[in-house]
Amino acid sequence: MNGSVRHLYVHLPFCAHRCGYCDFVTVVGREGWHGRYVDALLAELELERDRLSDRVETVFLGGGTPTLTDGDELRRLLEALPAASEVTVEANPETVTQTLARMLREAGVTRVSLGAQSFQPELLRVLERRASPDAVRKAFYHLRDANFDNISLDLLHGIPGQSAAALRADIDEALALAPEHVSYYELEAKSGTTFTHAHGAELVRQAEAMEGYFDLVVERLTAAGYRWYETANFCLAADHAGGRDLRAQHNLAYWLGRDYLGLGLGAVSTLGDERRRNTPRLKAYVTALASGEAPPREVEPLDEPTRDQERLMLGLRLDTGLPLAEAERSVDATALGRVEQLGLATFRSETDGQTTLVLTPRGRRLGGAVTVELLT
Ligand SMILES: C[S@@+](CC[C@H](N)C(=O)[O-])C[C@H]1O[C@@H](n2cnc3c(N)ncnc32)[C@H](O)[C@@H]1O
Ligand code: SF4
Repeated sequence: MNGSVRHLYVHLPFCAHRCGYCDFVTVVGREGWHGRYVDALLAELELERDRLSDRVETVFLGGGTPTLTDGDELRRLLEALPAASEVTVEANPETVTQTLARMLREAGVTRVSLGAQSFQPELLRVLERRASPDAVRKAFYHLRDANFDNISLDLLHGIPGQSAAALRADIDEALALAPEHVSYYELEAKSGTTFTHAHGAELVRQAEAMEGYFDLVVERLTAAGYRWYETANFCLAADHAGGRDLRAQHNLAYWLGRDYLGLGLGAVSTLGDERRRNTPRLKAYVTALASGEAPPREVEPLDEPTRDQERLMLGLRLDTGLPLAEAERSVDATALGRVEQLGLATFRSETDGQTTLVLTPRGRRLGGAVTVELLT
């Protein structure tokens, strides 16, 4: 390993059931394929190993449902991956047993991202989730018992039928568990999903009715000592966490525009001047790697202006903003002045003499709309 890439993503696509709202690359069934799939991942790692730095900082196993992977195969994979200071695994609550939690910890996992989504039984039914609210809590306690001191909860707002009271109840339930990190996503209607087909119109109505409800999420979590460090992400602030920086370091690398290597089905990599996306077809992926070849993939050139624009869009999602000099590579002074006048962004003077472009709380709530305003 003598390359420069310090962030590694590994995709584990297997799921017990396809949730209607999800458009991630997933594979339902095919239990007999777990071993072959892990072999293929490790073969791909060997082919790409030279791109990785000697000091990999973060590894992220995402899915699909990584914790549905056969336990022995998951352990074999974890033990073969490069060591890193942050190793995150995404987990579905119904798959987290005491044994699994211990195995993850022993195999070097430092952080678990638990897909709770909601604590309301009727909303979990709408989402077609398999875990009950009790199963979410039980999974969380198993992880704590296995000494995980960095647990994140994924929650959704904008679920059809979600009232303000239900949202408040979810926030209270989440806070009662005292997770180190919370991702609070707005449920998106992904085109082509059965969910969008069944609930599309209601999702639009719901989004309108719930406008302003995300303010409630921000208010409650920040009042409880969480730092709203990215549009949809919160972590216990350093002064509530013994000085620890609990931001998701792997995701932070994406938001800061760093290079990363993605292994597995449908995995995306950003490597210098290109972005690659592996085939989403399980058989094609496994077959290619079994014969020592790279998997079929799409490669898209990434020129500097495109990377600068992405850096602007992602950097503005962070509470740290981005250096004005970097923003100026993509947008002109007139556009910057306009968003400042609209009260959506400010220029902050840093102690090192640099100026940073940061969104105001209002700008952050509008999210993408501000970048659109800047880039047009
Ligand atoms: C890649 S998914 C996999 C996590 C895991 N399999 C689970 O379902 O909990 C990671 C997260 O993306 C979020 N997500 C998935 N589909 C979404 C959608 N349509 N809109 C918003 N967030 C979504 C969910 O919160 C989920 O926990
Ligand atoms: S939401 Fe999670 S469990 Fe459901 S299909 Fe998507 S990846 Fe699988």
